[in-house]
Amino acid sequence: EKGGYDYFMLKEIAEQPKAVADTLLGRIDITGRLTLDEVRIPGSVLREVDKIVIVACGTAFHAGMIAKYAIEHWTRIPCETELASEFRYRDPILGPRTLVVAISQSGETMDTLMALRHAREQGAKVLAICNTNGSTIPRESDAVLYTHAGPEVAVASTKAFLTQLVACYLVALYLGQVRGTKWGDEIDTVIRELSEISTQVGEVLGTMEPVRELARSLAQKNTVLFLGRHVGYPVALEGALKLKELAYMHAEGFAAGELKHGPIALIEDDMPVVVVVPSPRGRSVLHDKIVSNIQEIRARGARTIVIAEEGDETVAPYADHLIRIPATPTLLQPLVATVPLQVFACELATARGNEVDQPRNLAKSVTVE
Ligand code: M6R
Repeated sequence: EKGGYDYFMLKEIAEQPKAVADTLLGRIDITGRLTLDEVRIPGSVLREVDKIVIVACGTAFHAGMIAKYAIEHWTRIPCETELASEFRYRDPILGPRTLVVAISQSGETMDTLMALRHAREQGAKVLAICNTNGSTIPRESDAVLYTHAGPEVAVASTKAFLTQLVACYLVALYLGQVRGTKWGDEIDTVIRELSEISTQVGEVLGTMEPVRELARSLAQKNTVLFLGRHVGYPVALEGALKLKELAYMHAEGFAAGELKHGPIALIEDDMPVVVVVPSPRGRSVLHDKIVSNIQEIRARGARTIVIAEEGDETVAPYADHLIRIPATPTLLQPLVATVPLQVFACELATARGNEVDQPRNLAKSVTVE
């Protein structure tokens, strides 16, 4: 049932191009427009939404953090992403024009379920993004957009995360389309590029041997830090979470801009620091700032592991290890940038002799608060 792989996690990482393609299937028509009729929230209701709140836990929360950038950019609707376990305890402001998006692979996570119940009690509409047909979260929501990752068995979420991102982009682009925002042209272009992305995920998977080798060489380290900016920041958090749960290592993700506000003091000689570099096209200011961050940490002894777009030559002189990913629109980069981090964590866990599919102390779905 592991399809020839040693672990479900490896199988599920390998299935990502298909999972991404399957989640797009039937949702983009031949004219390149999104058709999300299955969501069954009328356009009239979606046009009235004045606030979006995303609730989720763990990896799904990281997908939600990325979704916030996409939703605010393409729809201009204010959006916040909150840990489901924090949400209902602070008396959040919700009403009939609030759209709450609950993201969950299993559809059974108690924290997320309680958050959505609270939202509905306050009169908000809830859209679930879920991978498990007929599970509790979609059953209790007003609408659902299913991810088509197929069953995810390994405790560490991989293909579900990529498909959650795809679903979030679809929701953001659809809202942009329905509301006719000024980004119409960009939306059309991104929808086209989204159709290419599963091939690009496959390309990344084909180049992972050096990442595995690097992971094995770091098996004795105690700490790995992850840095990113913009949508690269949640990617850094996700890279760190994977490493914690699989390799049981101290791993932390930071927004690169926060370095000088404290975390840079952590840098020690030969400490591995993974940096997710945004595209030099698009938001190039961010790119240049992160290149200075790489220089700063390297000057303090960090071993820099740099994930950068193909053709981005400016980073090469400061990268002790360079991991290339295909060029994508800025907001879509997490779909390709996360893959090396999954492979990295899986290989490190193996090298440290850990149980990859069933890490200690963890369960696949957390059905208690
Ligand atoms: O089933 P859910 O998506 O609601 O699960 C949420 C988290 O428990 C889950 O993503 C967890 O963080 C994973 N083990 C991370 O790999």
